[in-house]
Amino acid sequence: MKKIVIANQKGGVGKTTTANALAGVLMHEGKKVLMIDADPQCNTSDTYQAAIADTATLYDLLFSKEPAHDVIQHTEVGDIIAGDPLLSQADMQLTKTGKEFTLKKALMSIQDEYDFIIIDTAPALGILLINALTYADSVIVPITADRYSLQGLSQLNETIQAVMEYTNPDLKIAGLLRTRYQARTILSREVSAALPEIAEMLNTKVFQTVIRECTAAQQAQTRRVPLLNYAPKCTTALDYFQFVGELLGERGE
Ligand SMILES: Nc1ncnc2c1ncn2[C@@H]1O[C@H](COP(=O)(O)OP(=O)(O)OP(=O)(O)O)[C@@H](O)[C@H]1O
Ligand SMILES: [Mg+2]
Repeated sequence: MKKIVIANQKGGVGKTTTANALAGVLMHEGKKVLMIDADPQCNTSDTYQAAIADTATLYDLLFSKEPAHDVIQHTEVGDIIAGDPLLSQADMQLTKTGKEFTLKKALMSIQDEYDFIIIDTAPALGILLINALTYADSVIVPITADRYSLQGLSQLNETIQAVMEYTNPDLKIAGLLRTRYQARTILSREVSAALPEIAEMLNTKVFQTVIRECTAAQQAQTRRVPLLNYAPKCTTALDYFQFVGELLGERGE
C-alpha cells in the first residue's frame, strides 16, 4: 500500500487534476484506490459527485472519531473520503499534542484494503497538510509555469523538512511535476530551465513527463467528471498515463 500526497500551497497549479488523474490511471490498471479530499473547497469531492452535506466526511473522521469505514463513500468513479467546508477550521480545532498524527491514526483500520491512498490538499500550509504529510510515503509537487510559481517552494520545503524531522522521517519528495504546460511559451521553457536547480535544493527531481494543457481537462472539472472518464484520449489524459508510468518506475527511473 502506497500513500501519496499532492501538495503545493499555491492555488490553481493542478493539484486536484493531478490527484484525480493519478487515481484514475491507477484504477484503470486495476488498483484499489482511496481518494481523500483534504481541501475545504471540496473540488475533488465535487468531481466524484460525493455527498458533503448530511454525510460523514473527512471532518467527522478527524474531529468526531467517526470510524473510517463509515466515512468512505463508494461512488461510480471510485472510493472517496469527502472534503468538507468545515475543514477550514482545522487549524483552530486540532490543537492537542499529537495532532499531526490524527489522520494517520484514523486511517489505520482501513488502509490495508487499498493499493493506493491519494490525498488532494488545499492551497495552504496548515495542519491538514501536515497531517497528510505525516501519514504519506511520498509527496508530488505540481508546478505551473508562471512568474510566482517557484517562489513558494522554499516555504513548502520548510514544511516538508519539519515533517521529516519531527513526525515522518521516511517521507520522500517524489518530484516536481510540470502541469498546464505549453511548450511554445517562453515562460514554460524559462521555468523548466530553472527547475533542476530548485529540485536539487529540495533534494528531489523534476519528472521528465510534462502535463500539457487541453480544453477537455478544463471542461471535465466544470462538468464534474474525472478527466479519464470524460476524455481518456485527450493530450492531458495521455500525459498523465505517461506520468504514472514514470512515477511507478516503468521507465527505469
Ligand atoms: N492540464 C490541464 N489542462 C487544462 N486545464 C487544466 C489542466 N490542469 C488543470 N487545469 C485547470 O486549471 C484549474 C486549476 O486546476 P486544479 O483545480 O487542478 O488546481 P489546484 O492546484 O487543485 O487548485 P486549488 O489550489 O484551488 O486546489 C482548473 O480549472 C483546471 O480545470
Ligand atoms: Mg484543488
